[in-house]
Formats: sequence, C-alpha cells, structure tokens
Amino acid sequence: MSNRLLLLGPPGAGKGTQSSRLADEFDLEHITTGDALRANKDMETEYGTPREYMDAGELVPDGLVNEIVEAAIDEADGFILDGYPRNLSQVEYLDSITELDAVVFLDVGEDELLRRLTGRRVDPETGDVYHTEFNMPDDDEIVERLEQRDDDTEEVAAERLEVYRENTEPVVEHYRETGDLIEVDGEADPDGVFDRIVDAVGLDD
Ligand code: AP5
Ligand code: MG
Repeated sequence: MSNRLLLLGPPGAGKGTQSSRLADEFDLEHITTGDALRANKDMETEYGTPREYMDAGELVPDGLVNEIVEAAIDEADGFILDGYPRNLSQVEYLDSITELDAVVFLDVGEDELLRRLTGRRVDPETGDVYHTEFNMPDDDEIVERLEQRDDDTEEVAAERLEVYRENTEPVVEHYRETGDLIEVDGEADPDGVFDRIVDAVGLDD
C-alpha cells in the first residue's frame, strides 16, 4: 500500500482539509510544515522568528523547515506531507531522507483559491477549519470564537500565490517530469475531492 504520500497544491487548494482526512482514514502521520510553524510562530531561531516570514506570505528558510520534516518523518511509519517541499532545494533534501510512494497535485483555479483563502476561519480551541460560505458550524458559541489566519487577508493571500508560482510550480513540474505526478481536479466539494484522491492513488485497493 502507498503509505508515504505527498499532497501538493497552491495555497487554499484543500491540502490541509484532505490530508487530515486521509491521515485519519488510512492511519498516516499528517506532517504539515504550516501548522508546525504556526504553533511556533514566535520562536527565536538563527533565522529570526517564523512570524516575520509567514505574515508577509514569504517562505520560511529551508534549514528550519527541513529540520521539522526530518524529525517528523523519522518518527512516522507512514505519512502524508502537506506544504513541503515548496521549492527545489527542499525536494533535494526530501530525496536525501526518504522515498515517496505517491505525489498528488490538487488542481484548483485562482478565483476559487482566493475565495477559499479569504473565507477560511479557524476554531482556535480545536484547530478545526471552516469557511464563511462553504462550511460554517451550527453552534453559535463556536461561530463567535472563530478567527481568520493572519496570512488570509486579500493582500497576503495574493503574495502567497505569487510565491507559490515562483517557488512551488517548479516542484510540480519536477514531479511531472519524473512521471510521479498524479493530478486531481480539486474543484468539487470536499467529499468529492477525497474520493478522487483515494481512487487516483489506489488507496482502497
Ligand atoms: P501553509 O499553512 O502550508 O499554507 P498554504 O500552503 O498556503 O496552504 P493553506 O494552508 O493556506 O491551504 P490548504 O491547501 O491547506 O487549504 P485548506 O484545506 O485549509 O503555509 C503557511 C506559511 O507557512 C507559508 O506561507 C510559509 O510562510 C510557511 N511555510 C509552510 N511550509 C513551508 C515550507 N515548506 N517552506 C517554507 N515555508 C513554509 O482549505 C482552505 C479553505 O477552503 C478552508 O476554509 C476550507 O474549509 C475550504 N475548502 C477546502 N476544500 C474545499 C472544497 N473542496 N470546497 C470548498 N471549500 C473547501
Ligand atoms: Mg494548509
């Protein structure tokens, strides 16, 4: 079975939504550099704090994210990578520490990405992710405490898309050239996208 998966896609494509569910259903470790960095945003490192980069929509230096990923992979039997690698030098590092069984690219158009990003809301108590248009909780108490991510403003979201084009599209191209890329149309409801990924990778076989 494929148990070392990589889910690639632009900001807002649904990597977090789908990776969490895949991790639960197939008993994989969800390795997400974005969440790991957000949980340590004000940590002082030799590169400064992650916040300085994240709030501007820029990539955090490779040394820091490579370290996070290597430690997590070392401890995992099977994993799904979400948000890493994001540039070719991270691809090289990843190649030096593990092999992948499948690389999935979630394809979503730019208008939809911006809609998903600017409407995203997060429950600070549970970490659950919602959306103002597509998925709001029924419980008023939860609605009242929802927060917007600092980097989900229109301005920073646009910068993140730009950073994606420059740094991460070459990563997608790399896996296309090696023949490993499995492209999945990410424009359906979350259940529909989940089924497409499971089918495309053959996770249920
Ligand atoms: P990170 O947290 O990884 O952000 P991202 O890649 O920009 O992706 P997002 O988390 O915004 O989107 P997603 O694809 O997970 O979508 P989601 O499922 O939440 O990184 C943040 C920052 O950390 C970076 O900018 C950088 O500074 C730093 N960083 C992280 N990794 C790094 C690395 N490797 N190197 C250097 N720096 C790094 O969905 C989005 C919204 O849409 C939600 O509201 C959701 O409910 C909704 N939604 C999801 N699926 C659907 C659907 N099918 N239909 C309708 N709505 C949907
Ligand atoms: Mg995410």
